[in-house]
Formats: sequence, C-alpha cells, structure tokens
Amino acid sequence: MTTIQEQHERALIVDFGSQVTQLIARRLRESGVYCEIHPFNKVDGAFLSAFSPKCVILSGGPASVTGEGTPRATKEVFDLGVPVLGICYGEQTMVNQLGGEVTPANEREFGRADIEIVADTPLFEGFGGPGTEERVWMSHGDRVHAIPEGFEVIAKTQNAPFAAIADERRQFYGVQFHPEVSHTPRGAALLKNFTHAIAGMKGDWSMAAFKEEEIAKVREQVGDGKVICGLSGGVDSSVVAVLLHEALGDQLTCVFVDTGLLRKGEAKQVVDLFRGHYNIPLVHADEGDLFLGKLDGVSDPEKKRKIIGGTFIEVFEREAAKIGGAEFLAQGTLYPDVIESVSATGGPSVTIKSHHNVGGLPERMNMKLVEPVRELFKDEVRALGRELGLPEAFVQRHPFPGPGLAIRIPGEITPDKVAILQEADAIYLEEIRKAGLYDEIWQAFAVLLPVNTVGVMGDERTYEAVLALRAVTSRDGMTADYYPFDHDFLGRTATRIINEVRGVNRVVYDVTSKPPGTIEWE
Ligand code: XMP
Repeated sequence: MTTIQEQHERALIVDFGSQVTQLIARRLRESGVYCEIHPFNKVDGAFLSAFSPKCVILSGGPASVTGEGTPRATKEVFDLGVPVLGICYGEQTMVNQLGGEVTPANEREFGRADIEIVADTPLFEGFGGPGTEERVWMSHGDRVHAIPEGFEVIAKTQNAPFAAIADERRQFYGVQFHPEVSHTPRGAALLKNFTHAIAGMKGDWSMAAFKEEEIAKVREQVGDGKVICGLSGGVDSSVVAVLLHEALGDQLTCVFVDTGLLRKGEAKQVVDLFRGHYNIPLVHADEGDLFLGKLDGVSDPEKKRKIIGGTFIEVFEREAAKIGGAEFLAQGTLYPDVIESVSATGGPSVTIKSHHNVGGLPERMNMKLVEPVRELFKDEVRALGRELGLPEAFVQRHPFPGPGLAIRIPGEITPDKVAILQEADAIYLEEIRKAGLYDEIWQAFAVLLPVNTVGVMGDERTYEAVLALRAVTSRDGMTADYYPFDHDFLGRTATRIINEVRGVNRVVYDVTSKPPGTIEWE
C-alpha cells in the first residue's frame, strides 16, 4: 500500500530550531506543497534517499555558525541534485559548508528591513526586478561575509551586502531574512517561486489529503485498540473527535469533563452535537460542584490552573477507568501549545502561564498519546473541521481556555460570580454575532472584576461589580491587537449588560494588545 506521502511530491524542511520553522511548512502547505519538518541531526544520506524530496529548505535557528560544534546540514543535501533554499541560519550554514565565510556582524539586524533586488532571478519572479525594493523581516546577528564559488548576490541591504544569494546553476539559494513570517509581505510568493518555479512542484496537496493521511496514520497507530478522547467543546478537541470517529468508529469513546466553568449553554451544545448528531459514545461528567468546591477561596491564577488541571485529571481518570481497556488517549494539542512551552535553545524557558492541557495524564494512566493535529495551526484545524463536515458555527468558534471562566474571574470564584459572568458573556457574544463581527474576531469574552463601584439605577444607589469586555484579533494567539469596536456597539452592549445582568453596574473595554498584555487577564 502506498502512503499519502508517497502519492505526493515532497519538500523537506530541515529544522535548525527556529521559533518560526513551522511557518515555513504552513506557507508551503498553503500553496499545496506536501512537506515535512525533520530535525537537522536526523537528516542523513539514508534519510534523504528514502524521503526523496523535490527540494530542501534549511530553516533558521538560534545558534551561530561561527561557534564551535554548532549544527550543520548533512553534506548529502548538497549532492542530491535538487534545489536548496537556506533561510537565515540555513543560509549561513550553507555558505559555511560550501566554502564561503560567515562572521558575527557589528550591527545586528532585527525587525523590518528593505532589501534591494540586484539581479534577475526566478526566486524573485513577479517582484519588481533589479533596482526595486522589497520589505522583509530580518532577525540575525551573524552575516555572510564571503559567498562560495558559483554564487552571486541577488539582493542586499545596507547591513547585509549578501541579503540574498544564488547559485542558479546548482539551484542553491540563500536568504538572510525570513520569507515565512507575515511581516515579509511577499514571502509566501518567494517560497512559492522556490517550490513551484524553481523546484517544479505542482502543488498537489490539500487539507483533504491531510485528512486521509491522518486517518490512515491513526488506523495504523491504534490498530484495533480503544481510544479515549477528552472533549472540551472547543474546536481542537472536537475536530480530533470527529476525525478519530471517522477513522475508528466505535473504538472511540469521548469523555466530556464539564467543569461548570463553561460558557452559557455550552455543555448542552457539546452533548447534543456529539452524542445526538454524530452518535459518538460520550460520557458527560457533570462536575461543576466538585470544581467550584476545590476552587473555593483560591485567587492565585496559577493555583487555579493547577487545581483545575489536577481535578480534571482526577475526573478523567475515574471516567476512563469505568470505560476500561483503552490504551490510547487522544488530545487536541496544537502547534502553538508545543512551541510556547519549549525553548528553541533547549534551555529553560520562562513560564508566562502554565497552559492547562491534560499534561501528565498519559504517563499516569500508562496510555499512549494520539495527537493528530499537533502540527497544525488553529486556522488549519478549522479547515480540517470543514473537511470533516463539522457545522460552520462550530468550526468558527473562538478559542476557549481549558480552565474556562475561572481565569476570567480575577480573585476568588463563587457560583454567583460564575452565573453573572455567563449571563454577561452570552449577551456580549450575542451582540457581536448580531453585528456580524464574530468571525472577524479571534477571541471575545467578558471578565468579571473583583471591584465594586457605585452606580445609580432608578433612584437607587447600587454598589456592584465592574465587568471588562475584551476582544482581540490574532493569527495564532501568540500576538494580538485589541478589536476596534465602534462606540455605538460598546454603548449598546454595556447598556444591555447593565440592564439585564443583576450584579454588574459598570462596563469597561480593554484596549491592551499582546504584548505587552496577554489575551486572558490571568
Ligand atoms: P494568553 O492569555 O496567554 O492566551 O495570551 C493565549 C491563548 O491561550 C489561551 N489560554 C489558555 N488555554 N489553558 C488553555 O487551554 C490555559 O491555561 C490558557 N491560558 C490562556 C487563551 O484563551 C488564548 O487563546
């Protein structure tokens, strides 16, 4: 049997540990190119002949080629006879390995830069041609000092005389900047020039193919074993559940741990969709009281996360034990979950917030993990959801954090506060939907502040809580801008909330971006 990979032309991305390597894959996939990312130290001659790529991209990375013992590409990469594109560190190691010279630069270059194209080259096909400038995003300390034989300069900047280089005969290209990030506006076009025009790839891969491939992989991994999938009601775990259901049928059981900290009406929607519509065996553990009991009197955000994570595991373990006999645990882990918690250099990374996934669970329960969307970004998971026929309203849902409303109630949590927040949040989201803005926004939610202020309603003095509204746009949750609602919208929504929700007498709007803020308040 041929695998999906074998039915498609393949590009290979050799990873040197850049924070944005996955974006290269994402750009390639957007242009229909099947690609895989493999760490530089796993890619050797044997790997290359087995993988048989149509082209190779060497990623950026945190090391310096001028340092002792730093990563290199296996030399067979340059003997394959296929086009090679080096990005940033990838360019520098290519230059170093092919006989050029890289030196630490006096001036480091970070952020926006304008390169000047200085030669005609298929890499810049469709750009302005020699003499024109192109906006790019740089992030490097070292720079190329002398290029190897056979190479010529195709673009430069003031600080980087070798901002882009090419050996057209061997089809080796190097760029000092990052074409994969959105801050390089025509970066995707550049990568497409490389894969399509230079490497001659047709772009024969799609989300439909990814779906089939993952289904085949899951079937192979699981065999006739049983799988348990934790369902949160969010897009990621829902897509995983439907994919696994398609792959495995009744070998899958979903466990929905209802923390009592979900949005209004959400638990019912989840149960209706999965049990009712999809007919997936579903355990609904309705444990609001348990969670709220354990959170009683706790106000520290990290403690809340730990308690919720721990209790979640407890409930999940109990329910899984009742089902019995499952050796696999499915999770909707996404790529940003992976990169935000691991440092690129392998050193300790700073924990900004300990994201609650069901971390620790598989080892404790001695289960193997099934993570079919681990390499996807949020919008790719949505595309996969559509491919699987999930309803559009479900696919487009805003992300929702595991600890739920607990981290939207700064300070101590009480059942009353949860109820107030659920009501206010529902009105806010309803107004956003009515205004047709839901899909433009990455995430919108209300935060119930532990602050009471004085108000007047009718002739009466009130002393009630302040509610903050938050809405952000984002591509991946890693950076975000606040959403610029018009004042009419904000005024209308605030009035409704204050009139309809007992316990709130003042509404404010959060205009902080990320960074310096985070999306959630805790
Ligand atoms: P922050 O607040 O860190 O959020 O800017 C980035 C994205 O992550 C979500 N988030 C969480 N998700 N467990 C989760 O599963 C958590 O503890 C958690 N904290 C934040 C947040 O909603 C946003 O989408």
